[in-house]
Amino acid sequence: MNILILGGGGREHALAWAVMQNPKCDKLIVAPGNAGIAQIARCATLDIEDGGAVARFAEAEAIDFVIIGPEAPLAAGVADRLREAGILVFGPSAAAARLEASKAFTKEICDASGAPTAAYARFTDAEAARAYIRAQGAPIVVKADGLAAGKGVIVAMTEDEALAAIDDMFGGSFGAAGAEVVIEDFMEGEEASFFVLCDGDTVLPIGTAQDHKRVGEGDTGPNTGGMGAYSPAPVLTDAIAERALDEIIRPTVAELARRGTPYQGVLYAGLMIKDGAPRLVEYNVRFGDPECQVLMMRLGGQAMDLMHAAAEGRLSDARVNWADDHAMTVVMAAKGYPGSYEKGTEIKGLDTLPETSSDMCFHAGTTLQDGKIRASGGRVLNITARADSLSEARARAYALAEQIDWPDGFYRSDIGWRAL
Ligand code: GLY
Repeated sequence: MNILILGGGGREHALAWAVMQNPKCDKLIVAPGNAGIAQIARCATLDIEDGGAVARFAEAEAIDFVIIGPEAPLAAGVADRLREAGILVFGPSAAAARLEASKAFTKEICDASGAPTAAYARFTDAEAARAYIRAQGAPIVVKADGLAAGKGVIVAMTEDEALAAIDDMFGGSFGAAGAEVVIEDFMEGEEASFFVLCDGDTVLPIGTAQDHKRVGEGDTGPNTGGMGAYSPAPVLTDAIAERALDEIIRPTVAELARRGTPYQGVLYAGLMIKDGAPRLVEYNVRFGDPECQVLMMRLGGQAMDLMHAAAEGRLSDARVNWADDHAMTVVMAAKGYPGSYEKGTEIKGLDTLPETSSDMCFHAGTTLQDGKIRASGGRVLNITARADSLSEARARAYALAEQIDWPDGFYRSDIGWRAL
């Protein structure tokens, strides 16, 4: 099978790594890819948000199956264009991708399906939003309706913070994504992520994870895209996972099917868990990054068969072969991230790292220049290990991280503290 993966982060390196382990993969192209992906697959330059361009490229390269990594091409309708061209694709339609592309849409679906989530109100007028915040008080959560590169959710612990978020959103800091805001009650509890595959009808759980969103030790400092993750998430017990499936995820998938916009792809439910009960925080219509790295390390080559079965509507016959294992990934980021940081600094020591089914350094923001690996983004490397216990996976991931010679990078030393 000839496969095209869209994206160029650590998530896509992990997807490419899993696909390459499956003997059914004859050819793999990743667009745009990165320096790590280039070591295992061909990287191509392509506007991945232009569905017509992606379809033409796939036809020219005799691609049998396209896997879409990030949310932006999904929201832009790239999966729709590929399906119209008769190309098999893993990823939801633009209509179903609204589960991530519009926070207000997700709330509508929760209302219609009875999925438990925080009480909320929607606003297109700043003054009305301010009045609502003053009436409700803090803590309170302010969300830009649209896609905002992970920066559109403000968990405001004070009324002033919430009002400042309203000024930012209606002031244009988030562009069109901030034209409408959703204001939600603050939910207490422990957050965890639940990943399922869907084929429009059947829902197949493929793992749980927790990430660390804050940049600093002890979960302090500004929010990031994620500084590390581990799977499974101990807080998401089998009983809570069953409740999440019955009360949140299956009703959502059924409601989308009822509306004529069935969901096909991976559905990533962010859940808040308190007293054994899950409530929906948000949906994402793609794998988490860096959560994907730990999920792929646990699933290995079967991940491709499962994604292919989802795309072909065959999930009711699919089974996940689970191992009783744990995986952890530690993100190495450029010093200064998530603020401003230098690009182009050289990273050494990567060629001596082991690359096995249990130890991998996935690349995120890297490029190859003059034979040297250089940092080209904020989050740069994802050092990932799998073992029989989380503490062993953690020890191995940190031992690998220590071998990397990159004075301009940093990582948190406490990934997994909650679970350990
Ligand atoms: N790590 C969080 C996300 O991918 O949204």
